[in-house]
Amino acid sequence: MTLKPLAEMATEVLTTADARDKTTLSRQHAASWFAARADGSLPAVGHASPPDRPARPAEPQLVDPRDVPKRKPGTEAGRIAILHAVAHIELNAVDLHWDVIARFAQHDMPAGFYDDWVRAADDESKHFNLVSDELEKLGAHYGALPAHAGMWRAAEDTADDLMGRLAVVPMVLEARGLDVTPGMIALFEKAGADSAVAALETIYAEEVSHVAYGSKWFHFLCGRQNIDPKPTFHKLVRKYFPGGTKPPFNEEKRAEAGLPPDFYWPLSEHTQKN
Ligand SMILES: [Fe+2]
Ligand SMILES: [Fe+2]
Repeated sequence: MTLKPLAEMATEVLTTADARDKTTLSRQHAASWFAARADGSLPAVGHASPPDRPARPAEPQLVDPRDVPKRKPGTEAGRIAILHAVAHIELNAVDLHWDVIARFAQHDMPAGFYDDWVRAADDESKHFNLVSDELEKLGAHYGALPAHAGMWRAAEDTADDLMGRLAVVPMVLEARGLDVTPGMIALFEKAGADSAVAALETIYAEEVSHVAYGSKWFHFLCGRQNIDPKPTFHKLVRKYFPGGTKPPFNEEKRAEAGLPPDFYWPLSEHTQKN
């Protein structure tokens, strides 16, 4: 079977609006890619014109983050709101990983770069499905609540800058997920919501590798240009993500993902380490 060029597969996912259709197609394309990679050959990456913004379902309504209704975390409504926000993040992450592949296809990266982002996109698709299943068990669904409108902003700001994209998306935003997920798991544990805990634990375990992929390829690109990774990372995060990073940091998981403290502490402007 001849495989479509990877950048075309990526664009197909990005232009699929329905969330479950998007994750189904994403997982199928990931399986095809890894089946073709099994003999060690590199199928064509090709070129594509990804959309400026990925196609999304008519719902959820996208609103300013200040207008996303807050609910008490100790209530079922609060847990639904948290799961809905996580589902929204996961769907966005599916598109972000395929977008890296489609948008920067001209960069002539080693095969492992494509493997990593296809695997990450596949993980995010699974995460979206897991969290959507949890919402449905609670009588809700993805789309039932308003969601954060600004999620694609980081992708737009870094549409011409692969190193900026890696610095901001996996190494800042996904690393932030490692900081906040343990607290979320504790909240669902307290409520005895076992299957939601299992879903969040799967997400927590797999997100470490996405941050690690970001760090690995960021360092690779710095090495290719013979530039110092740490000041380059600080410069790019200050340029594209001026809000900076906020403690508390999950230093252990960040270290596991190849993010040393001197990368993120200097970006937390208003706080001191001690
Ligand atoms: Fe995820
Ligand atoms: Fe991720």
